[in-house]
Amino acid sequence: MGEGSVLAEPGWAGAMRARIVATGSALPPKVLRNADLARMVSTSDEWIRERTGIQERRIVADGIASSDLGTEAAQAALARAGWDPTSLDMIVVATCTPDMPLPSTACLIQRNLKATRAFAFDLAAACSGFLYGLAVADLYVRSGSCRRVLLVGTEVMSAIMDWTDRSTCILFGDGAGAVLLEPSTDGNGILSTHLHSDGNLWDLVCVEGGGSRMPASAKMLEGRQHLMKMKGNETFKVAVKMLEATAREALAANHLDVKDVDLFIPHQANVRILNAVAERLGLEPDRLVVNMDRYGNTSAASIPLALDEAVQAGRVKPGSRILMAAFGSGLTWASALVKW
Ligand code: COA
Repeated sequence: MGEGSVLAEPGWAGAMRARIVATGSALPPKVLRNADLARMVSTSDEWIRERTGIQERRIVADGIASSDLGTEAAQAALARAGWDPTSLDMIVVATCTPDMPLPSTACLIQRNLKATRAFAFDLAAACSGFLYGLAVADLYVRSGSCRRVLLVGTEVMSAIMDWTDRSTCILFGDGAGAVLLEPSTDGNGILSTHLHSDGNLWDLVCVEGGGSRMPASAKMLEGRQHLMKMKGNETFKVAVKMLEATAREALAANHLDVKDVDLFIPHQANVRILNAVAERLGLEPDRLVVNMDRYGNTSAASIPLALDEAVQAGRVKPGSRILMAAFGSGLTWASALVKW
């Protein structure tokens, strides 16, 4: 594993850091169950449950895009915080399924919210995107450049699924999660973030067509190259290793032990990956947050969705230490440690 970059080291009480003020999420109402998939490809409810832990996932209706879900999640968070959208300074959107190549999904969400003061941009780190965004938001807040930040992870993964490929189409779902951040000087907030990439592993999870290397064409569509391809087995092994390493890195940087963590929120990719990482870390199941049984892998939305669910369920209390870890296409991997 490379050194990566340590973007926020644990500091002293009184140091400026970013704190999550409120969370929100959005899920399309349409449920796609394993039994529905078994009618589309050669698979079974039993195989999907046993090999992935997924029972069902949400899928958008025709015409719904990532900015629609992202806007809804952001509005839920803004309502909880009691913030006016015009008070936002910055909007960061993590997505690998933007509405369109240009403009950014962040600008479309800014328009929908009427967040007229904010500058907005997308960030591409696939399933690690939310934690990459958290690191960027934290830096802007700690530098004093921004006081109110909206970070959204939003995905319409169904748009890039090959519905004839049973090894990928069973895994992913649509959804969005959002958090609002502001400065904090009481020692709570984002304690550390660690980001890593290894572009040598670019072809483990990729969508090859539709960009500048292979522009949209009839040939590209025929070859289904606008859809996601994945080397599942290899990804699985790398994921377990990277998640464990970056989780340990976050603990070491904060001089904490696994027993000091109240909640572990990993990227929701495969329940066997989550259980393997929790076991390697020595973390009991009651501190592990899992919601992928209901939503599948929602890429950049998975951690903020799980965080919002944990907050709404009362699992997050003032002072709770939350360890988050993600991996995704790139390859990218990342961790964050937050004191609530
Ligand atoms: N239903 C039934 N059988 C399936 C299947 C499905 N949906 N998908 C794959 N299979 C079959 C394979 O064709 C293979 O059959 P074979 O032995 O006859 O060739 C067999 O199951 C085993 O395949 P394998 O790929 O070894 O299964 P697996 O246990 O590794 O599970 C994944 C496959 C994709 C679920 C698993 O590798 C995984 O989750 N990987 C991580 C992916 C990930 O996290 N990606 C996101 C990155 S952010």
